Formats: sequence, structure tokens, C-alpha cells
Amino acid sequence: MYLSRRELLRRVAIVGTYPTLGYLAACGDDDTTDNSSDTGADAGGPDLADVSGADGADAFVDDLERYEYSGTPGPENTFEHGVASGDPLTDAVIIWTRITTDEAGPQSVWWEVALDTDFQQRVAVGTFETDPEIDHVVKVDVPALAAGTSYFYRFMFLGRTSTIGRTRTVPTNPDRLRLAVTSCASYPHGYYHAYRAMADRLDLDAIVHLGDYIYEYGNGQYGNVREVDPPHEIVSLDDYRRRYRWHRLDPNLQAAHQQHPFIAVWDDHETANDSSRDMAENHTEGAEGVWTERKDAGIQAYMEWMPIRDPDVEGRIYRTFRFGDLADLIMIDTRLWGRDPQLSMNDEEGHADPARSLLGTDQEAWLADQLEGSTAQWRLLGQQVMMAQWRGVGTLETPGPIFNADQWDGYGATRQRFFDTIIDNQLDNVVVLTGDIHSSWAMDLTPNPYDPEAFDPASGDGSIAVEFVCPAITSPGFPDGFAENVAIAVKSANPHMRYVELSKRGYIILDVDRERAQAAWYHFDDITVTETTERFVTAYAAYDGRNRLVVEDAAAAPPTDVPEGAPE
Ligand SMILES: [Fe+2]
Repeated sequence: MYLSRRELLRRVAIVGTYPTLGYLAACGDDDTTDNSSDTGADAGGPDLADVSGADGADAFVDDLERYEYSGTPGPENTFEHGVASGDPLTDAVIIWTRITTDEAGPQSVWWEVALDTDFQQRVAVGTFETDPEIDHVVKVDVPALAAGTSYFYRFMFLGRTSTIGRTRTVPTNPDRLRLAVTSCASYPHGYYHAYRAMADRLDLDAIVHLGDYIYEYGNGQYGNVREVDPPHEIVSLDDYRRRYRWHRLDPNLQAAHQQHPFIAVWDDHETANDSSRDMAENHTEGAEGVWTERKDAGIQAYMEWMPIRDPDVEGRIYRTFRFGDLADLIMIDTRLWGRDPQLSMNDEEGHADPARSLLGTDQEAWLADQLEGSTAQWRLLGQQVMMAQWRGVGTLETPGPIFNADQWDGYGATRQRFFDTIIDNQLDNVVVLTGDIHSSWAMDLTPNPYDPEAFDPASGDGSIAVEFVCPAITSPGFPDGFAENVAIAVKSANPHMRYVELSKRGYIILDVDRERAQAAWYHFDDITVTETTERFVTAYAAYDGRNRLVVEDAAAAPPTDVPEGAPE
């Protein structure tokens, strides 16, 4: 059973809110489709229209109701899965936790959001009713927050208090945006150093997670540095939930969630390898149940465990975040919503078939609308599989073979329509962010990079957008020693590829300002050991209106006005 947004909202009771100037600032923005909340919850508390003379947020001590409990304390591990936040808007953010309890009936969990880590300046408090039907998760869409503000939040249940989380709402009109971009965290392959590094970077606005947050495999099937629970391949709802529980015990992953809001989409392994709307490579119909039921189980567990705003339509997670007029971040689903099953590698005709879709007709139309209607300086597209062409050596008349029919190469007509939207509307500053492939790439995007008349690799003339591919947190790329030669061969056959590194694990810092969008790659020496070194490797940027990549000397300097972190 999938709990709708309406059902989750029903579980929330806002006990009180405190009027601050910030509240009032947040009231003017009512773009309900995207960047401000439409939670439907009654915020209660004072009539905000009557408190326009309220003092600023610095001096107050709130008089909101305090959590009280005098019974026997619950178990010490009540909040063992930590806290999380996500889907920040200018006036709302999702906060999340889970209670570990043997209680079968509904349980009321207290939550509170404050401006300070002592919780003297609380701005909203309430309860959330959880139960086994939703795996005892707690998920609150906190409304009426102030834009561009750091908040702290925590939960209480049976006298136990969770760790304190830190989150941040979206500014109304920022001049700078700083995101970590990440994907692919196969637990058995190693340690989550990248999550730890992201947690330590307190200057981020959010972490963009492009999927493969979990993998479906059992122990011994994919990686052997660490073991997972359950030990078998996950196929049922209980299996998927257990896998999330296991991941969320990892201290580095907990820290990343604790310090930053996530903006997440799934890839294939949140269900099964190479999944699509109607099937998956790693699903055997019958022996492993019915695909649609397995897919629904994976989706349900994802929606329960990720700090993502529940959509009105089950499974429809594509959505847009607006960072003032600086950037729109358009998150799409190339995996489960509308993807037709992939074809064999050499089926050139099939790949180009205009009737086949990577997104589904409705999502594709929505994406075109988002692009055409975007008035922001930058259009960032958060998505799963590599968009740029990746072919072997060929000629203009006879292109080389494609290498991966799972990515946009296998859905050439969908890609061409995406390019046509950019060209027809003369859109500048489109930046595609990609996960999935466990390696690091920077590419110019152009309809035919193999035609020297249409694209000049030396100048970048002909490029209409750029793509940055983030390395995996732990999932494997090509083996060391072999990867370098492969990368050289790949680049020589694909002139639009500026940077290709195929073996290292790490993450990207995407730094966007009025001048340029820069991706900086950070890699780790060895993720199979508990101590390792992070290295800045390279940075590429697209400058305003240029729509092509240039290599940068250094990563952008971090901002100096860094908000306080949550105490760990
Ligand atoms: Fe992956």
C-alpha cells in the first residue's frame, strides 16, 4: 500500500508556530507548483497577518509548548537511523526520522524546528503519527519557514531525543548556489568517505543525489568489503525496508543527512538493475515475483525512507526546484516513470525509433515546458543516465557502435527532442548532471559531435549545453591500471568528451554563480579502507551564454559566511 501525500499530511499535527520576520518574508511566494509549499497543513498559531511588527529572529525565546514525558524511557536505540531533511523550498522543507519500536499501534512522535541548536528559538513544533504501515518513519513537510535560512530540527519519543539535524531553505534570490552532486553507493564495495566529506562541507546548499542510494544485490553478489542486511537479494517490501535500515546505520551517511537537505531521485538499483517501466534486467518474472509489485515495493520503501516530498501521483518524482532567478534545478526520472525497455546494443534503428521513449510522453512534455518556461539564468537537469553520445571509432557515414543502450544513446529520438527544445527556444546555460556510470566525465552536448561541420572540438563551436557526470561514492568503475587506457581511447573516438576518468570514487561540487557553473571533481585514494585521502582532481566550467566547457585552474573558493553545523 502506498501512502498518499494526503495521508501523510493527515498524520501531521502542527502544535504551534512562532511568528518571526522570516515567516512574513516567506508568505509572499505562492508558486505552488515548484518552489514554495502547498502542504495543505493548517499551520495554526497566531495569524501571521497580525504580527507584521514582530521583532527579528535574533532576540526571542519562544513560548511554544514543550515536549513532556514522565514514563519509562524508550529503548536507547529509538532513533538509531538518525535524521534527514530534503526537498527544500523557500518556505518549507521535509524533515525525517524513524523510531525503532516494538509497538504495533500508532505512535505519536514529537518534532520541533528551531533557529538555534539549544532549541530556545523554536519556530514550529508538532507531532506525527507513525505506525508499522509506513515502517515507523516520521516525515513532516514543515511549512511557513523563512527563505534562505538555516534551521535545526529534532524528534522526541518516549523520553528519547534524536540527534539534531540541520537544514536550509532556499533563498528567494541567491547569487550563488553550491551543491554536492553524487550517486551510486554500493555498501559492500567500501566505506562512505564521500558522504563524510559532504557532511564536513558546511557551505553546501543541498546534496543532489542522482540515485543508486541502495543496491538490490545480496552478499557476495556485488562487492565484498562490507556485508549488508538482508543477506539475500531484496525483492519484497520488507526486504527493501531492511536494506534502507541497514544503510542508515552507517555513520557517514547519517552525517551527510544530518548536515544537509537532500534533493534525490532514484536510479535503477532502488528497484533492480537496468530497470524500466515494465521490466528489469535483474528481475526474473515469476521466480522473483511480479515486476510491477516488486517495483512498487521499491518505490514505497524509497518514499518512506528518503526525505522527499510525496507526490500527488504515486511514483511521479520528477519535479523542479527554483533558486530565484539564478537557477532552476529540474529533477527527472529516466528510469521507472516512462522508460521503454532497452534494446540490444547494435539495434541502431530501434534506438532511433521516435516512438520509443526514455521519459514517457507526459514527463517529456513536462520537461519541455520546464525548459521553455524557465526564466532563470541556469537550467540544471538532475538525472540518472549519461546523455552524451558514447560510440566506438566510426566514420561520418558509418558511426561507431554505441557502448551502453541503457543510457540516452539507446533512446536517440528522446535525446534529439531534448536538444531540439534547447535549439528551438535558443536556451542558454543548460547543465546536465548525471550519475549511474561510476566514473567522472565532462562533455559538450551537441546533436552530432562526430560531424566536423556541426561541432568543432577545438573551439567547442556547435555545443549547445554541457554535461557533468559524478563518480560513484563506492560502486566500481573500470579497474585501476586498465581505466586510463580505456579513457584515452574513449576520448579519441568521442571529440565532445573533455574529461574522462573511469576508476576513482568521489563526488562533484557544483558551484553556480552569475558568471559560470563549475563542477569540481574530488576523488579518494582508496574507499576499501577506513582512512583515506580526498584529492581535488580537476574542474570544468560553462560560462554564461557560452554553452561549452572550459577547464579551470582550481575549484571555486568556498564562501566565507558558513552557517553553523549541527552538533555531532
Ligand atoms: Fe550505480
